[in-house]
Amino acid sequence: MYGLINVAIRDLVTSQFSQAAWEEILAKSGAEETAFIRMEQNDDAVTYALVAAASEVLELSAEQVLEAFGEYWTLFTAEEGYGFMLDAAGSTLPEFLQNLDVLHTRVGTMYPGLKPPQFDCSNMTSNCLDLHYRSERDGLDPLVVGLIKGLGKRFNQSVTVEQTVAKSDSGKESVFHVSWE
Ligand code: HEM
Repeated sequence: MYGLINVAIRDLVTSQFSQAAWEEILAKSGAEETAFIRMEQNDDAVTYALVAAASEVLELSAEQVLEAFGEYWTLFTAEEGYGFMLDAAGSTLPEFLQNLDVLHTRVGTMYPGLKPPQFDCSNMTSNCLDLHYRSERDGLDPLVVGLIKGLGKRFNQSVTVEQTVAKSDSGKESVFHVSWE
């Protein structure tokens, strides 16, 4: 994944935990300096190693680390200068969730080798929908839960997320039931 992802993990740890915790995580992960150049692609294994090391050092489960990272992502990308892309993706939570693929297509114009996830919405009502998530990667479902919660904060909405299908069972996709007030 692009270095931008690894930079976000570093920023999350240094801003919400400590510099010392970050240095321990970095040492344990074995990640190289080049993994933190935003617009360079790295092996996905680097990101997974950072999550595993963060889980050990911060005494959180890998799922908790991924969820916290997902929540942080919207804030981080806004601060990194991608606010205009977030703004263009929608002014309400359901509109935004329907535009996630458009958003990543725009991101792909700046990050040419991007291998983005795919999202679809179904069963929409005025206060809920099912979000379908497909990726060539495994193990990132808790990241999606955190991302949705972070978007809830962006729209100042109280959001509930319940995973109803896991790709590890369906072999194809994960599904999240998202409801808001
Ligand atoms: C302007 C905001 C955003 C930017 C700049 C951005 C950029 C990226 C980048 C660079 C990657 C790594 C993929 C790669 O390197 O191949 C990625 C992955 C991902 N993005 Fe976004 N993204 C944004 C917003 C979002 C939002 C709001 C969601 C909410 C669901 C999301 C969901 C994901 C997921 C789940 C992945 C993990 C990759 C996978 O599942 O295969 N992104 N994004």
